Amino acid sequence: MSVRKIAVVGSLNLDLLTEAERFPLPGETITGQRFGRFMGGKGANQAVAAARLGAEVVLVGAVGDDDFGRQMQAALGAEGVDTRGLRVVAGQTSGLASITVAGAENQIIVVPGANHALTPADVEARADDIARADVVLVQLEIPIDCVWAAAEMARHYRKPLMLNPAPAHRLPEALLRATTLLTPNAHELVASLGLPAETPLAELCAAAPCAVALSRGVEGAYYRAAGSHDLQHQPAFAVTAVDSTGAGDTFNAALAVYWHLGPTQALRHACAAAALSVTRTGAQSGMPHAAELAAFLRSLPGTLSGSRI
Ligand code: RIB
Repeated sequence: MSVRKIAVVGSLNLDLLTEAERFPLPGETITGQRFGRFMGGKGANQAVAAARLGAEVVLVGAVGDDDFGRQMQAALGAEGVDTRGLRVVAGQTSGLASITVAGAENQIIVVPGANHALTPADVEARADDIARADVVLVQLEIPIDCVWAAAEMARHYRKPLMLNPAPAHRLPEALLRATTLLTPNAHELVASLGLPAETPLAELCAAAPCAVALSRGVEGAYYRAAGSHDLQHQPAFAVTAVDSTGAGDTFNAALAVYWHLGPTQALRHACAAAALSVTRTGAQSGMPHAAELAAFLRSLPGTLSGSRI
């Protein structure tokens, strides 16, 4: 199997992560246990996760003209991600995420900075990368017109568009129709479709005009093909969770990398990769390499073969 090529259009953030025993209440000050700086941002996280799984990855995005931006570019380069699609925005700070982790749950505040200076022209300038890609992967931490630009280019070059609708936003019907696979969690699916929160999951999935891979954390994930009413379930793999930051990004990257194996295998690989990712602190720190994922899948009872890309 040839190396998979993934074009990621998305955000880069520096994650400032504090671990505490619990989240503070509004107006309350509490003492935390640990602090760390990590590379993050949904675009960068998904790019790194895909590269570790053996894909050839290009990231289209924007960083500030500051030390954080230079550190993020260097870190991505060290992971083997092609950073020629990153624009340095003069006079702008890099994206920053303030994250609190308590009991493996997280709360995140993102200050987009340079991510919001990304333009459709920046995306269009990487036409060659998109033309070469097997999958185009995009999230919602960049301006929506850049998401549209990625969707239009994916359509032009007949590439599958994987849209991870995070953070949650109501999405135009036309964008959902341009999407090959929507990859929300339950809250993001409700928001994307603009339906009431109490809508049953099966109905929510059936309401999307595209295929849906719904991640449900400890419940695993569900897949529904476009136009179908069948929901396929992949149970989660049991691990000791330390920090769930970046689990969704790992899930998305693995789905993109293993999409050619078909939805059942792609979902299985994505749930396994996400499970491994929560066993370490920091979004990118826990993301598995292809060999680790293959060994994990081989170790599961009843497994006949490991992963391949
Ligand atoms: O999905 C996790 C990411 O969300 C973090 O790395 C943070 O930067 C925010 O973008």
